[in-house]
Amino acid sequence: MPQQDQRVALVTGATSGIGLAVTRLLAVQGHQVFIGARTTENVVGTVKRLREEGMDVDGATLDVCSDDSVEAFVQAAVDRFSTIDVLVNNAGRSGGGVTADITDELWEAVIDTNLNSVFRMTRASLNAGGMRHKQRGRIINIASTAGKQGVVLGAPYSASKHGVVGFTKALGNELAPTGITVNAVCPGYVETQMAQRVRQGYAEVWNTSEDAVLEKFSAKIPLGRYSTPDEVAGLVGYLASDTAASITSQALNVCGGLGNF
Ligand SMILES: NC(=O)c1ccc[n+]([C@@H]2O[C@H](COP(=O)([O-])OP(=O)(O)OC[C@H]3O[C@@H](n4cnc5c(N)ncnc54)[C@H](OP(=O)(O)O)[C@@H]3O)[C@@H](O)[C@H]2O)c1
Repeated sequence: MPQQDQRVALVTGATSGIGLAVTRLLAVQGHQVFIGARTTENVVGTVKRLREEGMDVDGATLDVCSDDSVEAFVQAAVDRFSTIDVLVNNAGRSGGGVTADITDELWEAVIDTNLNSVFRMTRASLNAGGMRHKQRGRIINIASTAGKQGVVLGAPYSASKHGVVGFTKALGNELAPTGITVNAVCPGYVETQMAQRVRQGYAEVWNTSEDAVLEKFSAKIPLGRYSTPDEVAGLVGYLASDTAASITSQALNVCGGLGNF
């Protein structure tokens, strides 16, 4: 892609798992990618590694739960590259348990990290990021199949991801006339650090081993296995492309058949 056509992408939570795979793919597709996560050393290390692989990537520390951090992050991306063409809201966390025992702190942390963050990052990218003045843009929210169906012992997580799907549909319709598309990608089970933490949590509650949890979860998936971060990134890369211009307000699964709608 010639230099003047290079598009700028922001990816949150890009030092691990799905966000890292998305960053690699968007960079390979010719985007300049600005990445963020809370752990500064991981941001620095990831940027260094990807640059060594020949990718046009930079980044900054980001906490999607903080308005100030989000504003500073978007401004840093604009200063470093240019106004934002593609926003991938990927940063997220797990969280749940027996609903009657869930504390206010856990509930609020999950909703803030997974849902309020998507609004915060999107608003900042439209304003300071300059997206609202463009004829073309892409906002891609990493939701979950848990954003379409209930997950036992995952009420805050499921509620947050249903919220992301609702936000996606409303904003997609609002922005459709502008050439900015807004979609959610809904992974099922994906092998990442978060997936490992989720298995640990269920193993404790069910008083069993993590391997037994893996077997139980894999058996629920028609494909018989977890999806890979690259398989999720593939759909994100497609949604970021020009060919995907008429896909908006959708929530699309990458889940080995786990979700049916
Ligand atoms: N793995 C799955 O099975 C699965 C299934 C469905 C949906 N998802 C969704 O996919 C997304 C990515 O998950 P993953 O499995 O790839 O997770 P992961 O491997 O745990 O990576 C999470 C990334 O987000 C960053 N992060 C976490 N909290 C943040 C915050 N407050 N501000 C900025 N960055 C933050 C982490 O870095 P720091 O900790 O350094 O901030 C890390 O880079 C999440 O939204 C998750 O809900 C995952």
